[in-house]
Amino acid sequence: MDHLLSIEALTGPQIESLVNLGATLKKDRTASPQVLAGQQWALIFTKSSTRTRVSFEVGIRELGGTPMFLSGADIQLGRGEPIKDTARVLGRMIHGAVIRTFAQQDVVDFAHYSGLPTVNALTDDEHPCQILADLLTIQERLGTWKNKRVVFMGDGDCNVARSWIWAAVRGGFHIVIGAPKAFQPAASFLATLPDQSNLTITDDPIAAVTNADAIYTDVWVSMGKEEEATERIEILRPWQINDTLMTHAKPGALVMHCLPAYRGKEITNEVMEAHAQTIFDQAENRLHAQKAILVSLSQNP
Ligand code: CP
Ligand code: NVA
Repeated sequence: MDHLLSIEALTGPQIESLVNLGATLKKDRTASPQVLAGQQWALIFTKSSTRTRVSFEVGIRELGGTPMFLSGADIQLGRGEPIKDTARVLGRMIHGAVIRTFAQQDVVDFAHYSGLPTVNALTDDEHPCQILADLLTIQERLGTWKNKRVVFMGDGDCNVARSWIWAAVRGGFHIVIGAPKAFQPAASFLATLPDQSNLTITDDPIAAVTNADAIYTDVWVSMGKEEEATERIEILRPWQINDTLMTHAKPGALVMHCLPAYRGKEITNEVMEAHAQTIFDQAENRLHAQKAILVSLSQNP
């Protein structure tokens, strides 16, 4: 693996091995292999972050490297310097990069022009690190994610939903996208999938959660969509994960959220607190899954 730019770019066995390596690394943080010893890694973020930033900074240090946080607003990128020029400069000075930004193409271009191992820390298209941590969480809670039924509720065309769909397409489990018509995966995106046999799309919230092993939600207003907030909240309101909806879920179904959560919008405070252990395990597992990504990149011949 040269880069981690998307779930789309991974194979089923690669996903499985990253999740399992994350589980192994979690067992003893003090025994982390020092694969990044002597290395400087840039974290280039043009969108806000708590979990991703902290988990990468901690993870890089635990693997022996030094993280360098570069806010897009502070470096010349924010004043219009092209990503390919930024990439060529950093490629001569550092050893790897983690990028959170808007266009997927910017992450692809950075990887190409820098020649550095590059990790997508969220774009408008995908959030691959999140899904690897979430699969680890499901594995811990249910023993495996193989043959499970995961339902993603809400904005079914957002980055997290798309990474879930790609993970299911790559094999091993079924994804249900529960979303109103306006927020279902775009036809242009669906046309890129080689196979839709592990994907169901429904606009019925009760049908969506019935028989789900994990009920997953994300913010209704992703970063960059703030101008659409009023309309999104109005259309997505029936998709809230609340106690009434949960009466239709099977006993023991997990409730998951990538965070940050907006209580009273995509999830109620009651459901959030009842499932806090799972949800904050997801947040912690970002650290372990991302260390697995970094170790795998370091093993690239
Ligand atoms: N889930 C997630 O990526 O959180 P942050 O935006 O805080 O990094
Ligand atoms: N879909 C959300 C995920 C946040 C972690 C966003 O892009 O803002």
